[in-house]
Amino acid sequence: MIWPKGRILFFLRGGRRNCIDIMDSLLIRGARAFDPARKLDAVRDVLISGGRIVRVEGRIEPDGKGKAGEVVSGEGLLLVPGLIDIHVHLREPGGEHKETIETGCRAAAAGGFAAVLCMPNTRPVNDDPSITRFILERAARACGVRVLPVAAITRGLQGESLTDFEALKEAGAVSISDDGRPVSDGKLMKEALERAGRMGMPVIAHCEDSGLAAGGAIHEGEVSRALGVPGIPASAEDNAVARDVALAERTGAPLHIAHVSTAGSVRIIREAKERGAPVSAEATPHHFTLSDRAVRVSGADAKMNPPLRGDEDVEALREALRDGTIDAIASDHAPHSPAEKAAGLIEAPFGVIGLETTLPLTMKLVHDGVISLSRAITLLAVNPYRVAGLAPPSIRPGSPADLTLIDMDSPVSIDPDRFLSKSRNTPFRGWTLKGRAVITVVSGKIVFRRNKEEHH
Ligand code: DOR
Ligand code: ZN
Repeated sequence: MIWPKGRILFFLRGGRRNCIDIMDSLLIRGARAFDPARKLDAVRDVLISGGRIVRVEGRIEPDGKGKAGEVVSGEGLLLVPGLIDIHVHLREPGGEHKETIETGCRAAAAGGFAAVLCMPNTRPVNDDPSITRFILERAARACGVRVLPVAAITRGLQGESLTDFEALKEAGAVSISDDGRPVSDGKLMKEALERAGRMGMPVIAHCEDSGLAAGGAIHEGEVSRALGVPGIPASAEDNAVARDVALAERTGAPLHIAHVSTAGSVRIIREAKERGAPVSAEATPHHFTLSDRAVRVSGADAKMNPPLRGDEDVEALREALRDGTIDAIASDHAPHSPAEKAAGLIEAPFGVIGLETTLPLTMKLVHDGVISLSRAITLLAVNPYRVAGLAPPSIRPGSPADLTLIDMDSPVSIDPDRFLSKSRNTPFRGWTLKGRAVITVVSGKIVFRRNKEEHH
């Protein structure tokens, strides 16, 4: 190595010679580096510079001349490729009392997420390139988490006419969805799949038969009957999943199914995948952790759409996470203000926050022996990038330095009053979980660092 004027000369892959400023370097020492995509599981020192990983070795000495950037101890911690949450509602523009792009990014970083996909049901709806650009401009001034906008399939989410997918993609949208609402007109959904498919963009489907779901507040079952609250039957989701899977198979266009909640959907998706259908699917921590009984405990803080389902549905989701039927874990982070959630079970809006609980709830599956660590990281940091049409980051020289450092072992009590999100609507208040982000790195920069006293 040569050291001319504070710079290190490196030979990167491909023989290209690069000057890397050592002042912006970050060295993470002694963590258990874990990257399922390259089957890496070993204690490593990782040196980052110029936004990229430059070395991954058993031991890397910090620059003895004191010029090196920051050195972080990763001892006893798990280092994984930066997580991505492909289903987040950031609420800006129009819902800034619930969340802003700034607070949502901070919550994402605290949750260990290096990147988020944000849903278009803002006010105005992200159905126009000017809104997509606005989101990206705001995000560029936020805490450094990558924000990838999802644009609407139909104008105003009205389910009547398609948006200009080409223009939205050009403005920076990575996918399209009417999330929050189904596209009830099958012909329009088919056209959307065809057009998006030609552009190599997946359609993210919110699968709901609005006729069957109409008026419902929670899952139709014992709890809804006991409470006398109108129910949403499982068939409202199953029907819509079956239709969209059929359309994806017919058109050959990639379809991603959001927030799968029923055993019926799991069965349909599993069989479609066996036939080779271009279908992927996500599940949320609330759906794979809680049944509708949680509504009795948490009331409107356990109300979301699709709703928490029965025990057999929760079990089917856990099996689907294990066997690969579900490709990704996503939070469906849906902030609402305390006043809105105080309106009672029937009147309160649907949605729970999840950015700051998704990682520990996924790690609970690992601690409980439901899925392996490798599967957990694949579900949070490998597959979801692919769903979004992006290359996953990796712990290898040359990769963008998006990394999450995790404390797998210290028990932490979930206290929404300490969340960085603006909202508090979670059914996990008071739970004790293990597996929190300690540091989140995006493009070589630390975008979140948990302070020591909080850490233990
Ligand atoms: O619970 C939900 N909340 N489900 C949705 O589909 C929309 C979301 C929201 O935007 O609040
Ligand atoms: Zn959503």
